[in-house]
Amino acid sequence: MSSGSPSHFRQQRRHASFSFSSRDFSTGAPKGKRILVTGGAGFLGSHLVERLLGTGHSVLCLDNFSTGTHHNLRHLGERNDLTIVDHDVALPFDLGSFDEIYNLACPASPPHYQADPIQTTKTCVLGAMNVLEVARKYNARVLQASTSEIYGDPNVHPQRETYWGNVNPIGPRACYDEGKRCAETLFFDYARTYDVSVRVARIFNTYGPRMRPDDGRVVSNFIVQALRGEDITVYGSGEQTRSFCYVSDLVDGLIRLMDSPDSVDAPVNLGNPGEFTVGNLATMVINMVGSRSSIVYRPLPIDDPRQRRPDISQAKTRLDWHPKVSLQDGLAKTIDYFDLLLSAPAPRATHELAHEMEAR
Ligand SMILES: NC(=O)c1ccc[n+]([C@@H]2O[C@H](COP(=O)([O-])OP(=O)(O)OC[C@H]3O[C@@H](n4cnc5c(N)ncnc54)[C@H](O)[C@@H]3O)[C@@H](O)[C@H]2O)c1
Repeated sequence: MSSGSPSHFRQQRRHASFSFSSRDFSTGAPKGKRILVTGGAGFLGSHLVERLLGTGHSVLCLDNFSTGTHHNLRHLGERNDLTIVDHDVALPFDLGSFDEIYNLACPASPPHYQADPIQTTKTCVLGAMNVLEVARKYNARVLQASTSEIYGDPNVHPQRETYWGNVNPIGPRACYDEGKRCAETLFFDYARTYDVSVRVARIFNTYGPRMRPDDGRVVSNFIVQALRGEDITVYGSGEQTRSFCYVSDLVDGLIRLMDSPDSVDAPVNLGNPGEFTVGNLATMVINMVGSRSSIVYRPLPIDDPRQRRPDISQAKTRLDWHPKVSLQDGLAKTIDYFDLLLSAPAPRATHELAHEMEAR
């Protein structure tokens, strides 16, 4: 994915560490909190950045643009309260002080995180350490975007935070699953050892506009295939279950978790507890798109979880959070997004068109 970032940022990436003075962060008067979002150019990150800016905070987005893109942030325009830095979170960095850090940097879809598994482990583990060092140095509160994948192929259903999981440590998904598990370990060790104020969100499958059409995740795959009139590829029998959370609900949950008191000292599941089979989802998408696509079945990938549903009682009681957007409504918005994206006359125009739609 091209970065298109200023050349001096790209040059900085080659060094193991670099330093920006806090004055470089925002040339205007500081307002609200100073917040670092790693992975801020990705799907979830860009929605989070947008929400934080909208509530009066200044944001620094650190991203290496491996799966994210400048286009995801372009509609926010040139502004004093947003700085974008092209950097690999697995390399140490010092960009001055922050009040809060959201650590989202990491490819999230299996084809992307498996393409370079060693880099994925580095991103999860070294990235967490680097972010925690910044939080420790500047006394920032720090939130880790963890994942339901830490539960692996679960033997307990629905998954609650006290379940330790069933993860294959040497399979092709392990770079992500074990990387994220080790990141959680680091977060709680920094809290115990250095009194860093940490939050850990275990995010379940989230979808919405700005997912990449080539992302390889089930919702975007099905919608893109249905809109193109291609066969819908279901892996396995389609009886495996998933829970799907719309992006605005998830962003709301992340911010509530960040704002929660220090007594919220354990991971918190964030996801939509509605449970659907993958086959149900395929049928829903075909019907909503009005597509003539057929469903074809392919072998289940290794270590693919059979069931997934969050127990969100912790998020409900401790954060007063629950998802509000139904799967039907969230899918409708996501289908509109991909419809516009795919009907663009040339690939160069796709993201611009999508943001035009969002601006309407
Ligand atoms: N979307 C989901 O369903 C979901 C579920 C569970 C957890 N998560 C977590 O949420 C976070 C964001 O996921 P997403 O869906 O937005 O994925 P995404 O791939 O769209 O975004 C990830 C962002 O991180 C950046 N990135 C990757 N490696 C980096 C590195 N080494 N240094 C700096 N930046 C790097 C990418 O360029 C991208 O902008 C990830 O940590 C992911 O594990 C997402």
